[in-house]
Amino acid sequence: MNHQDTLRPARNLAMDLVRVTEAAAISAARFIGKGDAESAGKAATEAMRAFLRTVDLNGAIVIGEEKGQHFMLCNGEQVGSGAGPQADIAAAPVEGASLLAQGQPNSIAAIALADRGSMWNPGHSFYMNKIVVKRKAREAIDIRLSPTENLHRIAEALGRKVSELIVFVLDKPRHGSLIEEIRQAGARITLHSDGDVMGALMAALPGTGVDVLMGVGGASEGLITAAAVKALGGGMQGMRAPQREDEKRRLKEDHVKIREVLTLDKLIRSDNTIWAATGITQGTFLEGVDFGQETGIITHSIAIRALTGSIRFIKSIHQLDPQPSGGPADATPAQVAFEVVE
Ligand code: FBP
Repeated sequence: MNHQDTLRPARNLAMDLVRVTEAAAISAARFIGKGDAESAGKAATEAMRAFLRTVDLNGAIVIGEEKGQHFMLCNGEQVGSGAGPQADIAAAPVEGASLLAQGQPNSIAAIALADRGSMWNPGHSFYMNKIVVKRKAREAIDIRLSPTENLHRIAEALGRKVSELIVFVLDKPRHGSLIEEIRQAGARITLHSDGDVMGALMAALPGTGVDVLMGVGGASEGLITAAAVKALGGGMQGMRAPQREDEKRRLKEDHVKIREVLTLDKLIRSDNTIWAATGITQGTFLEGVDFGQETGIITHSIAIRALTGSIRFIKSIHQLDPQPSGGPADATPAQVAFEVVE
């Protein structure tokens, strides 16, 4: 295989992807707390798309929005300069749009890359039940078992008591009985209105104060999560969990096996993933975009590369007016972000 066709030698891609999520996050951060999730999503998407053009990548969007919403990244859309390795891409220019609109913590811009043809296609699935844990507990989880059984198995794998575990759960009406069961089992819970990609990242990374993610969130978010968990060597299983009538009907028409266990290897059929995210609003784990410094705009990001297991935390200072200018190819994430918004 030609080196251009694979992500293997693409060492710099992880850093390039951070610049992509930085541009998206800076664009979106202009809308923090303004109650306008749509404008934030539009600005972040345009910035992501524009910055991706500067990256040597032959990428195809696997998850995006239905065509017609012209500003969204569309399923099948080609992104990147076209010159680099072929890859599948799952992107969330704003993950946690309501959080951003309300100025609440933990909205991020995220992007995931994997070898071309390796990402699961959610099709007509909008919701997925998920369980995410750290590396040491990855063989212990089984989404077909009850939350109580899973918590006991996870605690044993981690060498801890169930009462010591903290479980990230989205605070949604559909999770009433799940929350009750976790409490009955003796584990503790951190409830969040939105943002289960960030919750999963915390569950998979060591030292975050979160041990497990459980519950139903978006299926697309499940795919983005899977790429990160795979790169981190953590554990994840998913199962379709249709919530809407049209979703149930379309899955039935497609003869989809609803109770199929979506293992990490089914979600991403490659060990070669690259993942990056930048905080938009201030987060528990990733700090948000800071416009208030004289030195420039400050962003905080994470980049993860499966092949080497490297996890980088990157604090960047972005000048809006750097000198000398190297022309469009050298545009900074902040310049791209502001060009898109203004
Ligand atoms: P958006 O940014 O698309 O609004 O997603 C936020 C989110 O909370 C995800 O983290 C989660 O997977 C999904 O929404 C849950 O969906 P719902 O709010 O419909 O329960």
